[in-house]
Amino acid sequence: MNGNLFDDLPLSDTSEEIIADGAMILRNFATAQQQVLLDAIRDIADISPFRHLVTPGGFTMSVAMTNCGSLGWASDRRGYRYEAIDPLTNRPWPDMPASFLQLAGAAAARAGFLDFIPDACLINRYEIGARLSLHQDRDEPDRTQPIVSVSLGIPAMFHFGGMQRSDAVKRFPLGHGDVVVWGGNARLAYHAIAPLKSAHHPLTGSMRFNLTFRKAG
Ligand code: SIN
Ligand code: FE2
Repeated sequence: MNGNLFDDLPLSDTSEEIIADGAMILRNFATAQQQVLLDAIRDIADISPFRHLVTPGGFTMSVAMTNCGSLGWASDRRGYRYEAIDPLTNRPWPDMPASFLQLAGAAAARAGFLDFIPDACLINRYEIGARLSLHQDRDEPDRTQPIVSVSLGIPAMFHFGGMQRSDAVKRFPLGHGDVVVWGGNARLAYHAIAPLKSAHHPLTGSMRFNLTFRKAG
């Protein structure tokens, strides 16, 4: 004991919370990598720029998206699918950085999913007011592999529900550096991001970035 009340307090919250059978929030799991991750996002967007996709129903998404990895998620009037070629540049998506692969694999393992090797990383960019409506991630054939989601920048409210669109959702705030992993019995859980509230983050200004890692091939 040296009398300093703060000696035993962690620098940040690194708690782990099971939010459903197969789903876990790892608080601040990515925080130590923040600069490497943000630099990589900038480099990826220099090659494959962020764009607002159109849904099959004809709505332009408020979230701007790009991808890295051998496959990228795309949407247009014809449907949702994974593509090896970026339809905007007609070139392959940028390579998945080693830092992304390492982080996704470590987070998945921490949540109990060993040997996760994603081949797709969807990068979402939210501005204030942007949202992602309730959906399942179901365009990936191999449902034994989890989804790993990394949040950077301003906070968002994550909604996590059940297997049916009508199931009740629980709400979880996601902050800079937080990672969510869902797989197993939660792999097809419905989820959403509520419209982002006005906020500021020293590294991203008024924006939120989200990386979702998938095994899509
Ligand atoms: C997603 O559902 O693909 C993204 C979730 C998020 O932005 O946290
Ligand atoms: Fe999703």
